[in-house]
Amino acid sequence: MNDIPSLLAELTLEEKASLCLGSDFWHTTAVPRLGIPRIMVADGPHGLRKQPDRGDHVGISGSVPATCFPTASALGSSWDPELVRRVGEALGAEARAQEVAVVLGPGINIKRSPLCGRNFEYLAEDPLLAGTLGTAMIQGVQSQGVGTSLKHYAANNQETDRLRVSADVDERTMREIYLAGFERAVTQAQPWTVMCSYNKINGVYASEHAWLLTEVLRDEWGFDGVVVSDWGAVHDRVAAVAAGLDLEMPPNLGVSDAAVVDAVRSGRLAESVLDVAVARVLRLVERATVEDRPVPPLDVDGHHALARAAAAECAVLLRNDDGILPLRPAAGDTIAVIGEFARTPRFQGAGSSQVNPTRVDVPLDEIRAAVPGGVEVAFAAGFGIDAIDRDEELAAEAVALAERAGTVVAFLGLPAAAESEGFDRTHMDLPANQTALLARLATVTTELVVVLANGSAVRLAPWEAYGKAVLECWLSGQAAGGAVADLLLGAANPSGRLAETLPLRLQDNPSYLNFPGEAGHVRYGEGVFVGYRGYDALDLPVSYPFGHGLSYTTFEYGDLTATAGDATVSVSCTVTNTGGRRGKEVVQLYVGDPQAAVARPVRELKAYAKVELDAGASTTVTFTLTARDLSYWSPVVRDWVLEGGVFELAIGASSRDLRLSTTVVVDAPPPAVPLDGMSTLQEWLADPIGGPLLRAEVGTGGILGNAELLPVIGNFPISTLAAFPGLGITHATVDKLVAGPS
Ligand code: BGC
Repeated sequence: MNDIPSLLAELTLEEKASLCLGSDFWHTTAVPRLGIPRIMVADGPHGLRKQPDRGDHVGISGSVPATCFPTASALGSSWDPELVRRVGEALGAEARAQEVAVVLGPGINIKRSPLCGRNFEYLAEDPLLAGTLGTAMIQGVQSQGVGTSLKHYAANNQETDRLRVSADVDERTMREIYLAGFERAVTQAQPWTVMCSYNKINGVYASEHAWLLTEVLRDEWGFDGVVVSDWGAVHDRVAAVAAGLDLEMPPNLGVSDAAVVDAVRSGRLAESVLDVAVARVLRLVERATVEDRPVPPLDVDGHHALARAAAAECAVLLRNDDGILPLRPAAGDTIAVIGEFARTPRFQGAGSSQVNPTRVDVPLDEIRAAVPGGVEVAFAAGFGIDAIDRDEELAAEAVALAERAGTVVAFLGLPAAAESEGFDRTHMDLPANQTALLARLATVTTELVVVLANGSAVRLAPWEAYGKAVLECWLSGQAAGGAVADLLLGAANPSGRLAETLPLRLQDNPSYLNFPGEAGHVRYGEGVFVGYRGYDALDLPVSYPFGHGLSYTTFEYGDLTATAGDATVSVSCTVTNTGGRRGKEVVQLYVGDPQAAVARPVRELKAYAKVELDAGASTTVTFTLTARDLSYWSPVVRDWVLEGGVFELAIGASSRDLRLSTTVVVDAPPPAVPLDGMSTLQEWLADPIGGPLLRAEVGTGGILGNAELLPVIGNFPISTLAAFPGLGITHATVDKLVAGPS
């Protein structure tokens, strides 16, 4: 390929328009006469979905076999960027082996509601966690010379009416919650492409949103790649080009290209604007084709082993009464494995991310292979996965088996039909036939362990007391069956932590009253109080808090220090493995600003580290907080504002298991808030420049000397007060104040 400026000079207007559209479902457009090849893109976020033949974006047509790694629901719970990077490298290597130039992932949308049908494809309810893990995934994939598509940009937090709904979000919430992860991933990992979402944001389609696609993404964050549409997200191709959308997929051939050509010819779209988009597409093609490293053969076994190790890192041990796990069976013991999911595992979700796995581990087989000789592992299905009613025969058989077994392991979960891309759930409950079976099992055994497979959070409160242990495995990929055997029998030590709060009731979720909206709008009424930020603000009890997860060993925290430096705070503590075996702890640092000018969450995750320690070993963990970590987005200043004062720092094993805390005083100049005639008397008085100016102008004869009246009319704009006689403020005073110090 020639250099981009020369190509731009040679391309016809029609060719330029065609380069900004795909040529089919999965390919960009080639211009053979100028040696411009086409490149292929393919889903997806946790495994390649390369469709060699006919394309569709909902996973209906088949795809070539690929390793199905743990889905984002699971990877998010790893709290381990290093692991996610390794998964990304493997995914990138598979894409290279299949000659796919860009992998359409990761998806880092915030889990706003547990009902979102696509939560299994998203990482966390917290932007730091989603952003750091998304960054690691991009770095891993792109280290293989393969691009990524960071998606779905932005505020695509539900499936209901996803192609039209307007997410109505205030700018502070957008910046602090819904954009922060994208900002981190773009600035730290430079994805080759960003995929705009289907929905509108405050009434404007993401695909036509100039503020989103150009002002924020490119001008503020420095994104230099291609913005690609989600499949079918473009409605007005000319408006989309003008807003900064470079590549439309799949191509609306004969319509979009013609519209762009017409718009340029009629002067409605400057050709220079089109040229910028074309240049970005050409740069993407160049990036994807300069690589001439040999294509590695697909490492099916190695990647399956990685998928197994990763799945083990992601499972969250929610409870483990009496240390029932790991199981320690001896010859002569019987373990009852109950639940159809043990034989027919559910390990991924439905829709565009659906992978055709290279192989699938069956939990029952893996447990049988892992137990010592002489241990019987007996199975009963207990329920039909898609059956709504209880199957009495299956249930009775399971109860009879449980009665004679030493330990019962019940594999429960959501049927595939309960959660998918394309629709949201209406409740958080496990199917009634499963929970009813659990209640019956609990009447014949106390030694009951529940293993869960679900992509979105389920409600545990109605049934969890029936068991001693609950192991949440999420949808953990094709090797989830092997991983669960490793965890149950102690070959692996659980180290996953919740990336989302598990509420006692759906009604407690902060988005409850505003999800999924109506009449084409969903109002993000909870503002920044998403997930644990909301539960903590209301001090609501939850089943399990954000960040929670147990291990087969225990950890102690000590020696917290916090030192405020020049615009940074350095925080450190020691962590000691006080239990009997090697294990991993996720050390979490939460920050609160108790006296802020805006409503801020009680605490927010600002740093974390996963550390591995031998029994008895200690390590020191150090975090550095930047000014940005302590700041909020001010809609008045239209920037991040660090308010000086006292900040609360807490370190712990979850958002509600805070082991150490301290405060630190941070110095910062007061934010420069522009004052005008509509600024209130109080705002003027509080301002470091405006206050003295006002006092000098008005003196103490009028309102400023009236201690009783001041609090009553302090919230009047000063231009309004100018109309009130006797207060010492005239229109001339206001003009003088607004003009500023001479
Ligand atoms: C999904 C995207 C996906 C695309 C291509 C869309 O429906 O929202 O996540 O990458 O299809 O399959």
